[in-house]
Amino acid sequence: MNQMMNKPVSTRLNKFIADSGICSRRKAEEMILSNRVSVNGKNVTQLFYKVNPQKDKVFLDGEKIEPKRHLYFLLNKPAGVVTTTDDEKKRKTVVELINTNEKIFPVGRLDYNTTGVLLLTNDGEFSNLLTHPRNKIPREYEVKLDRHLTDADMEKLETGVFIDGKRGRFEKISFTSRNSKKFINVVATEGRNHFVKNMFAALSYTVVALNRLSFAGFKADIPLGAYRTLTRNEISGVISKYGK
Ligand code: URA
Repeated sequence: MNQMMNKPVSTRLNKFIADSGICSRRKAEEMILSNRVSVNGKNVTQLFYKVNPQKDKVFLDGEKIEPKRHLYFLLNKPAGVVTTTDDEKKRKTVVELINTNEKIFPVGRLDYNTTGVLLLTNDGEFSNLLTHPRNKIPREYEVKLDRHLTDADMEKLETGVFIDGKRGRFEKISFTSRNSKKFINVVATEGRNHFVKNMFAALSYTVVALNRLSFAGFKADIPLGAYRTLTRNEISGVISKYGK
């Protein structure tokens, strides 16, 4: 993620080499220790030597290592698309909706028929920040239920219900229509699989439609099925908000 940030940042040499995609971090360590790596013309054998990916010239056996180009996309996911990189049943995947030759993957997941905001990237650290439970990333959903939600159940969902033996709750829950209590808006800070559906199922409601309005503050600001790249400011904003 570093190269998209505004501030110059340094990274460990072994990580820089591994991030370029040529080998694992362990293999990179072996290469450094066996004196095969140079930085700006000088051989380096310290594993934790720091380099600036934007400025420093790193060579392995005399060949320049190019830093990996990180990509970040926001997709407004349509229904009928699976959130994976490769589907064994050969259904259309979210990755196929994005025009790139780079290997990207979804940040978290949305169910096959869930629509809305989904980020995709090839930056594992960025993805970890946004999926780690510690960061309590806010996810806002528009929900349609099979029947009217009672006020008592609404309160329970905010206080907490048990799903798979573990308590879950919505940070916020409200009705979105004056006429029907089937239309609900919720904010969750949990990313367990099928979290929203399972929360309602715990009180015997069925979610008949689900749309993610926002994820980590990213809103569905493009038409359904469309995607856009994230801006540098958006990326550095996430990193400074959720990074250590
Ligand atoms: N919760 C669900 O149940 N499904 C989704 O797709 C996302 C959150």
